[in-house]
Amino acid sequence: MVEHYSVLHREVLEFTKDLKEGYFIDATVGGGGHSYLILKQNPKLKIIGVDKDDYALEVAKERLKDFEGRFSLVKSSFKDIDKIVKDLDVNPVVGILFDFGVSHFQLKLPRGFSFQREEPLDMRMDTSSELTAYYVVNYYPESRLFNIISKYGEEKFAKRIAKNIVEYRKKKKIETTKELADIVYRSYPPNLRHSRIHPATKTFQAIRIEVNNELLEIEEALEKAIHIVSKGGIIITISFHSLEDRIVKNTFKKYKELKFLDILTKKPITPKEDEIRENPASRSAKMRVARRL
Ligand SMILES: C[S@@+](CC[C@H](N)C(=O)[O-])C[C@H]1O[C@@H](n2cnc3c(N)ncnc32)[C@H](O)[C@@H]1O
Repeated sequence: MVEHYSVLHREVLEFTKDLKEGYFIDATVGGGGHSYLILKQNPKLKIIGVDKDDYALEVAKERLKDFEGRFSLVKSSFKDIDKIVKDLDVNPVVGILFDFGVSHFQLKLPRGFSFQREEPLDMRMDTSSELTAYYVVNYYPESRLFNIISKYGEEKFAKRIAKNIVEYRKKKKIETTKELADIVYRSYPPNLRHSRIHPATKTFQAIRIEVNNELLEIEEALEKAIHIVSKGGIIITISFHSLEDRIVKNTFKKYKELKFLDILTKKPITPKEDEIRENPASRSAKMRVARRL
């Protein structure tokens, strides 16, 4: 069951249960798990499901087939949410959900998101976009690699990793996930190479964020979403990275001060122990919810 993996789905249902009739935008429809549950719970809602990944949209279409006529799927980045709403002429928008990051099934596709298998370095969510992980690791200057790995990966060995990437590629291009993971592994001090979390985790995350321009797109989309949602409507975000969560927190705060939003989650909501046990990938999730005044 796809929705089994939909992070914080019980909490999402709680916040959406009293929404008025109208449109709900699932800005990261993914496998359609949250959308499925929301359509089931709220017979008066129609969903616009957005994703930049064609494969995700295929999975969502199949998942939502019981609700034919109550959903539309759009291939786009959520940063163009204003254009989507205008083109489809949807009104009122009573809720918007952002569940950031990659989905569990994207990690299983041979697109280089995971260092567990040997795959070409790609990491694009939208396979029609230009920038790939291959380009980032083979052509970015060392200083830029360092900035990305330390900022987006919050990786304390970023300097050594960036240096070793550049050394390696003088001899040969870095073609696969395994090659990159090995370079990172060797950049770690030997006594820290075998901890529970693989040394390559943070570097892979950082490069994925760069390839998909994740943080800038979140910033742009949130600003737009706040202006799109109708009075009384809600915006729900689920973040997996402290930088994502900080963007949400600061944007919500700014619009609260402007008396545009009420923040419904004083502190972010995190998954309960049973959810983490069932789906360990949910452990770093943080949910924030705001209501348009
Ligand atoms: C964590 S998954 C969503 C899972 C979904 N909520 C579910 O229950 O099945 C995140 C999805 O957002 C998509 N995504 C990430 N950034 C995006 C962006 N800027 N625009 C559109 N989709 C994006 C990814 O392709 C992925 O399918």
